[in-house]
Amino acid sequence: MKALILSGGKGSRLYPLTYTNAKQLIPVANKPVLFRVIEAIRDAGISDIGIIIGSGENGRRVQNAVGQGKRWGVDITYIVQEAPLGLAHCVIIAQDFLGDDRFVMFLGDNVIEGGISNLISDFRDSDHNCQIVLTPVQEPQHYGVAELNPDRSIKRLVEKPREPRSNLALVGIYMFDENVHSAVQAIKPSWRGELEITDAIQWLVEQDYNVHPYIHRGWWIDTGKPIDMLAANSKVLEELTPRVDGFVDKDSQVDERVFVETGAQIINSVVRGPTIIGKNTRIVNSYVGPFTSIYHDCLVEDAEIEHSLMLEHSQIIDVPTRITDSLIGRNVEMHHSELKPRALKVTLGDNSRLGLV
Ligand code: DAU
Repeated sequence: MKALILSGGKGSRLYPLTYTNAKQLIPVANKPVLFRVIEAIRDAGISDIGIIIGSGENGRRVQNAVGQGKRWGVDITYIVQEAPLGLAHCVIIAQDFLGDDRFVMFLGDNVIEGGISNLISDFRDSDHNCQIVLTPVQEPQHYGVAELNPDRSIKRLVEKPREPRSNLALVGIYMFDENVHSAVQAIKPSWRGELEITDAIQWLVEQDYNVHPYIHRGWWIDTGKPIDMLAANSKVLEELTPRVDGFVDKDSQVDERVFVETGAQIINSVVRGPTIIGKNTRIVNSYVGPFTSIYHDCLVEDAEIEHSLMLEHSQIIDVPTRITDSLIGRNVEMHHSELKPRALKVTLGDNSRLGLV
């Protein structure tokens, strides 16, 4: 079997972070979501992986970060998509890479509990033409939605319906045989101008191909929006095996659910888990609360932060207000200032969000 990871798209719901980085490269629990996807595929025994990337700077960033896949023992082929024309369009442009092989298509911004090894082995040994993964969600209108027959077979699949007929969303992990290539050629663009993979699978259902729905009962997060990034971060942190590879001084309290990476230093601080402190990051005279990931080479000094994500090379120094529910990008500086006038002074990127007390 082969794998196709979708890592193109604009990531506009995560602006401003995605102006300068692909959304699939934003880390949860200090590891980019895309790396987690590659690991899940590798762990399911697949080593031939195609990655769809955009033609712009973010595509090149993905290529630079992932390389040829040696680090994971996999072989990566990049497929450039000139514009985000839809998930089914990705299958069309990947046809040379996929050939007639069975494959799993995995959206590069999805995080799922428990990996995909069981899903893959079920499909590999079956005569299903396609296997989709469904899970109950609160707001199905934001997803592809499946309506099932009383015998649990698929009745209908609709992309982002205004009035959903069930609460079963399509998870961004799909398994296909070669018949999908006819399906993606048969469909027309949707109202949002995209070739929808949901419509291609609906076509397979209508042509009486064997499309098997697998109901996933664990957690699953599509990290499209900041709130989803924080939710995914919390879930993954809860599963992390804690370890202290860095330095904790005798004046600090670091509880047992904290991962302190190599070269990190905790000085006179309180750190409550589940939390991860990245390589060479320093936490000084500070409080770091649960569900926080601080990436490498950061500094938190005389400050308090919890339930947040902080990316590399950022600094929070002498900030009197506790920071919570926040996404802090790379090379960000937040610090106390004595300069007059005494006022809030900010440089916020386009589409930034600032919540003041
Ligand atoms: O996450 C699950 C949902 O993913 C499903 O329930 C929906 O049925 C499915 O259409 C998809 O919906 P989204 O609106 O969340 O898809 P999004 O545009 O966010 O794209 C998903 C991933 O695929 C993302 O990593 C970007 C990449 N992508 C997207 C498009 C449209 C591409 O690589 N190329 C594209 O043309």
